[in-house]
Amino acid sequence: MGLRICPSVLNTDLSNLAAEVERVSRSADFVHLDVMDNHFVPNLTFGLPVVAALMQHCTVPADCHLMIEDPDRWAPGYAEAGAASVTFHVEAAARPAQICRDLRSHGARAGVAVNPGTDVRVLDDLVGELDMILVMTVEPGFGGQAFLEEALPKIAHARALADRAGGDVWVQVDGGVDERTIERCAGAGADVFVAGSAVYGASDPAAMVERLRSLATEARPT
Ligand code: DX5
Ligand code: ZN
Repeated sequence: MGLRICPSVLNTDLSNLAAEVERVSRSADFVHLDVMDNHFVPNLTFGLPVVAALMQHCTVPADCHLMIEDPDRWAPGYAEAGAASVTFHVEAAARPAQICRDLRSHGARAGVAVNPGTDVRVLDDLVGELDMILVMTVEPGFGGQAFLEEALPKIAHARALADRAGGDVWVQVDGGVDERTIERCAGAGADVFVAGSAVYGASDPAAMVERLRSLATEARPT
């Protein structure tokens, strides 16, 4: 089973998103796009028109992370726009199973995120509908925050749940993932890693993606 590294463009030059994606295109598996609505989280980034425009200029598959209210209404549009993976927050969803079905029917992988304060067990009955569990390792809303160590047991729990479901359910971590924390995440069972500051703060972002992949690969449970 492969590992995937997803650079987040949250803290880059947002006036030049296509060029920022290009900087990691030789090594990134997905580009992670943080959609925030200033309601679900206290920050506002970009929405569907910007993501749809970027899809026309982007050679890297898009992993959209929707930190928004009412994903029931908005999430399928990101799949229709061409995102390879669309993740919404379980805390914000009225009918999460239906959203997953809508995403998959548009050809996207369906991801469900849990905030640091949300128990992974809320996904017990949903896991058969989804393709990825996102365990937030910071409070969502901003890049550059410190990794929350208490998320590590949740990663292991998510891994166990994903494995019980069979199929090919990925476990993603997002927030404070860098050269110091990625090995613990991989050791706990994560296989998809979002990294914003660690990648784009490096002198060679594409090389940092490779570095993170090799650290995670070494630390995987055997
Ligand atoms: C935070 C976002 C993250 C963020 C990660 O709410 O979901 O994707 O960009 O940034 P770093 O890697 O800097 O913590
Ligand atoms: Zn994110």
